[in-house]
Amino acid sequence: MTTHAGKERADRPWAALAALAPTRAAFATLVLMLLAFAIAAFVFAPPARSQGESGARYTGVASCAGSTCHGRMEGDGTVVRQDELMKWQEPSTPGGAHSRAWAVLSNNRSQFIARNLGIGDPAKAQMCLGCHSTAGTARAAPAEDGVGCESCHGPAGGWLASHYAGVGTNADPDREMRDKHLANLSAGLKKLEDPVVRAGVCVDCHFGSAADGQFVTHRIMAAGHPRISFELDLFSSLQAHHQEDADYGWRKFGAANRRTDHVQMWAVGQATAIERSLALFQTRRGTEGLFPEFYFLDCHSCHRRIFDQAKPVRTGLDNPGRSIPEGMPPYNDENLIMLAAAARLAAPALADQLALRTAAFHKAMATDRPSAVAAAVQLSQTVAALKSAFASRNFSGTDAFAMVDAISAKAISDRYTDYSGSQQAVMGVDTLLNAMVSSGRVTIGAAAGIRGDIDRAYAAVKDPNAYKPSEFQASFGSAVRAIGALR
Ligand code: HEC
Ligand code: HEC
Ligand code: HEC
Ligand code: HEC
Repeated sequence: MTTHAGKERADRPWAALAALAPTRAAFATLVLMLLAFAIAAFVFAPPARSQGESGARYTGVASCAGSTCHGRMEGDGTVVRQDELMKWQEPSTPGGAHSRAWAVLSNNRSQFIARNLGIGDPAKAQMCLGCHSTAGTARAAPAEDGVGCESCHGPAGGWLASHYAGVGTNADPDREMRDKHLANLSAGLKKLEDPVVRAGVCVDCHFGSAADGQFVTHRIMAAGHPRISFELDLFSSLQAHHQEDADYGWRKFGAANRRTDHVQMWAVGQATAIERSLALFQTRRGTEGLFPEFYFLDCHSCHRRIFDQAKPVRTGLDNPGRSIPEGMPPYNDENLIMLAAAARLAAPALADQLALRTAAFHKAMATDRPSAVAAAVQLSQTVAALKSAFASRNFSGTDAFAMVDAISAKAISDRYTDYSGSQQAVMGVDTLLNAMVSSGRVTIGAAAGIRGDIDRAYAAVKDPNAYKPSEFQASFGSAVRAIGALR
């Protein structure tokens, strides 16, 4: 079951991705292997509604696939690459995962999950289609497309016909392209270059939403679904099928030298994930039968060994960020920890409020559900304020170094007591290092030189059963020191 799917994933040659994101490919491999193995059978994911409900018309992948459109064999288009279809389909890379999303519903692992849940054919079950195909959210899209272009770029009915018309004059082609992009946006194209918009699109499936069929409950995970792990900037690189050059800068941001701000992407991704988690926790998704929905909680706090002999052995570690009694399963705070680090640097005025409200929320979880929901409401307000502070601020190369310091500061790193928080810390440092390379602060060679340190930190969160917080903190510490030395 899980071993089977785990093997399939681990065996994929991610190397093909290297052409697009050389430094990232190695990480990608690690993260993905990590995810694959974390599969003693673990998942994570549900929705909150961003696609298809507006009545806009879906046209299906075929309508994007013409050989003069996005179906070229080579990425040699003058404006965009035009081989996006091929990249989306690339069989053995994470970039190709979305085209396979529906097909995997017929593999052995899906059959195993479906038998355990008693849901019949998983390829027809809404419980799975919501994330494994565009069709789960938009009736008109063919399920076989899997997660098609329009799942992310938005239904094309309103802009398909107009968006490929060429630039009309040679007077000011850059301005013309920009205007055309703005017109497409108002006709329903999603503004994926905007971190807030992109994060909203991805977390529907890579965390979960309130929509039908977009939530992986603890029961679905217990039936065999992998744990879902996500970091916006890293996963964006893994699936990227575009190139950022001067005309991209013009089209998307109105300036030839503008590029994606990867640190901002990371920070907004953290805020969006916890915002979504807290929002869903407040709804009917927050409970399952008699119990709170375990999906929201720290997996590792329940899934570890127990000793109850005369000389007691504690299996958990004290966590200064969680004011709860011993024996209570804590809320999964992986994104809250990253947010605390980002807030200290990028929005110090809100950092204390975040700390207070995070503590109050953990505490309320030990009282009763109404108090926990009330505390979730308060905390969500702080998260929303932080998210807009990040979204309206540019991050510099110096910020990236300071952010690595913040993530590794003792007050923050003492909170890495479970493997999801620890995994976020490594993905965060990985993203920040890549941002330093792309902003020219650190050379590719220097970054490659400390690859080994980061790989060791990834290795320490690879197997949930072998995870030891103290060992993680040691290998993470040396990765961070290696980055600090590049300053
Ligand atoms: C909330 C969205 C969501 C729902 C609902 C969902 N999945 Fe998934 N599923 C994912 C994501 C995202 C991944 C990839 C996990 C990762 O790599 O982080 C995944 C991975 C998988 C995999 C592993 C794929 C591989 O390549 O090995 C299988 C199998 C699977 N899902 C089957 C199902 C089945 C069967 C259902 C319905 C019972 C279902 N999923 C419901 C989002 C979802
Ligand atoms: C999982 C989400 C997702 C899917 C599925 C997806 N894309 Fe993308 N695509 C993105 C993101 C994110 C970007 C980069 C942000 C941007 O500039 O739009 C992008 C960029 C692009 C670009 C470059 C835009 C530019 O102005 O430079 C094109 C063209 C494109 N995608 C076409 C496609 C086509 C065609 C498909 C289907 C075969 C597809 N995409 C499927 C998320 C997705
Ligand atoms: C409609 C649901 C949906 C949306 C929206 C979506 N994804 Fe996915 N994504 C999936 C599913 C399902 C899988 C797993 C497919 C599989 O393993 O075969 C997946 C897999 C991936 C993978 C490969 C992970 C791995 O372990 O191989 C990456 C990377 C990824 N998604 C990035 C993104 C990004 C970035 C966005 C937003 C721009 C996004 N996705 C939006 C459903 C979605
Ligand atoms: C409050 C405690 C608790 C939390 C938190 C929790 N689980 Fe579980 N989990 C359980 C219980 C109880 C079972 C059923 C065990 C049994 O049937 O013996 C279970 C079963 C499972 C199983 C089936 C395999 C097994 O060991 O029985 C998987 C997989 C699983 N959980 C994954 C997760 C993941 C991933 C998370 C975090 C998102 C998580 N769990 C959080 C209590 C918890």
